[in-house]
This record gives sequence, C-alpha cells and structure tokens, in this order.
Amino acid sequence: MSDQQILQLPLKVEVKFPLADGRTLVQGPLTYNSDGLATRHNCDFIKDPAFAAAYRVGASGGRADLHIEWRVHVALWVAGQAAQLEGDFVECGVNTGILSGAIMSALDFSKWPDRKFYLLDTFAGIPEEQITAAERTAGVSGMNRKYQDSDLYAAVQQKFAPWPSAVVVRGRVPDTLSAIKSTRVSYASIDMNVVEPEIAAGEFLWPLLVPGGFVLLDDYGWAAHVNQKHAWDEFARRHGISILALPTGQGLWMKPR
Ligand SMILES: C[S@@+](CC[C@H](N)C(=O)[O-])C[C@H]1O[C@@H](n2cnc3c(N)ncnc32)[C@H](O)[C@@H]1O
Repeated sequence: MSDQQILQLPLKVEVKFPLADGRTLVQGPLTYNSDGLATRHNCDFIKDPAFAAAYRVGASGGRADLHIEWRVHVALWVAGQAAQLEGDFVECGVNTGILSGAIMSALDFSKWPDRKFYLLDTFAGIPEEQITAAERTAGVSGMNRKYQDSDLYAAVQQKFAPWPSAVVVRGRVPDTLSAIKSTRVSYASIDMNVVEPEIAAGEFLWPLLVPGGFVLLDDYGWAAHVNQKHAWDEFARRHGISILALPTGQGLWMKPR
C-alpha cells in the first residue's frame, strides 16, 4: 500500500473539549512548541532583547536547528539566583557552551574577575567505557556523533576568551574534577548524558556547594536519560534533598540552607 493510499483511509480523530471529566488538556494557540515542550503559557521572555542577546551568544558556534530557549531561560534564572551567593560556577558537559555562554553574557561575568566559571568537557564526546548496557539500549551511544568534532576544543576556548574567569578544562570527568580549585560553588550545571560522571560530579561538588547553591540537571526528565533520573533520585535520597522536575526536561536541586 502506498503512503497516499494510507492517507486516504477514513481516519477521523475528534476530541471534544472539555472532556467528560471536565479537563480541557492543551489546546492551541501554542505559544511554545520546541525541545519536547508544547504549551500555551506565556513565554514573553523570548521577546526580551536582553534574553535574545544572551541566547545568541550561547547559541553561537552551535547547531542552528536547536531551539532550547526555555531551558536557557531556566538556566539564566538559576544562575541569577546563584550569583547572589558567594561561590564559583561549574558546568560539567559544555559542548559548544549554549547554557554557559548565555549565562556569562547575561550576567556580564567580566565584572566578576574573581568568580571562576569552570567548564569541563572531554570535547570529544562521552567516553565509550562510561556508557552502560542500559544506556546503550536507550540510545545514548548514538548521541556521540553530535559531540565528536575535532575543532570543538579550540572553538570553545575562543568563544570563552572574552571572560578571563572562564576556565576551560579538557578531559574526562571524574578525572578532571580536581581542576576545580574552588572552596565554594553556588551554581553547577550537569549535562553529560550518562550516569557515571554525573553522579561522580555530584558527589565531588556536594561538600563545595554553599547553602542555597543550585545544581541544574539538563537531562533529568528526558526519556532516553531515565537511567540518569534513577541515579539522581538515589543521590537525592542519600543526601536528603528533593529534585524539582521541570517541564523542560531539566531537574533542579538546591543544597539545603
Ligand atoms: C549535551 S552536551 C552538553 C551541552 C551543553 N550543556 C550546552 O549548554 O551546550 C554533553 C557533553 O558532555 C560531554 N561529556 C560526556 N561525558 C563526559 C565526561 N565523562 N567527561 C567530560 N565531558 C563529558 C560530551 O563531550 C558533550 O560535549
């Protein structure tokens, strides 16, 4: 049967709102439909020139087809709160630096020469030996194609050169965590797509995090990253914290005050 014949089948799906139980579910007009999130809620932040400028900086050198505005909006809010505390910033899993580039630009990091922003990545993708069988089954290995660009390290060094407090660290987490010389951290973004280095980073950062310091988990709610969700939930139980699941797929936790 050809595709055209399939389309001609008398398929009629009709959903009447409200549903019998009174729910209306999401109906258009949608204000945002990108990156796994469709909503009719207000997202005027996208039109804010300051947001747009920071987003442009973050997105520079990255994939033009990627629209992760709401995730960046969340990261900017978290970073803005963390900036009111004493402490350095850390990102484990930087790639082209969308989140961290947007943050350094929006918060104007050049005004804080003493506040370091550590940027850790292999700049060569996820180490194969860190990908478990369960993660392989979930499709994590396939993601590596996007992260293995031989020019990436040089490009990221150049992108962050305007901010002297940016410390770009190339290598495998957890081996490189000792490059973080901070005694206090108020913001950490963890985005490495696999359990092993993420939880190692979480354990390393735990004693350094100041009370009220934030950790933003990029992959927490994404279906392909459910192994990370389970590992972070276990981490949360161990440390007596809870993780906020955000509709962007991110997770957020705070070191208790
Ligand atoms: C989804 S990307 C990060 C995107 C980034 N947060 C952004 O805002 O653009 C994941 C990155 O994690 C890195 N990565 C994965 N495992 C790692 C490890 N064990 N050590 C260091 N980097 C790792 C990969 O090289 C890849 O660049």
